[in-house]
Amino acid sequence: MRQATLRFITASVLCCLTMPGAQAQSDAAKVYKANCDLCHGADGSGDTGPGKAFHAKDLRSEEVQKQSDAALNEVITKGRGKMPAFGGKIHPDGVTQLVAYIRSLPPKK
Ligand code: HEC
Repeated sequence: MRQATLRFITASVLCCLTMPGAQAQSDAAKVYKANCDLCHGADGSGDTGPGKAFHAKDLRSEEVQKQSDAALNEVITKGRGKMPAFGGKIHPDGVTQLVAYIRSLPPKK
């Protein structure tokens, strides 16, 4: 029973990840929190222990935001330097949504 419930939850999460719109946005937030928060921080500032140690850039900075969606997509998928590759872990649609999520982070104060 428990297993079935779990499987149902997993299936609905996977399903929603491929759906555009508000639902996808909140799922991207969850994916971000689970995989990226650690280094990049909830606000994208990179103001975290590992973020500072690895010199993660502020995701809200112009330096990052001026890059094309394709370029950001590639960094997330293939990794770069200390940035781990997530291609094997996150579906390409999920990566696309993460890029949109990074674009939607509230600007630096
Ligand atoms: C282990 C720490 C770590 C984790 C976890 C991590 N990153 Fe990174 N990220 C980095 C570092 C360090 C860089 C800078 C890489 C470089 O250029 O040397 C980076 C760079 C980036 C960049 C490119 C910005 C630039 O430097 O131009 C993006 C976009 C990005 N990360 C998004 C993400 C997303 C989305 C996730 C979650 C799926 C994630 N990162 C998870 C450490 C991390």
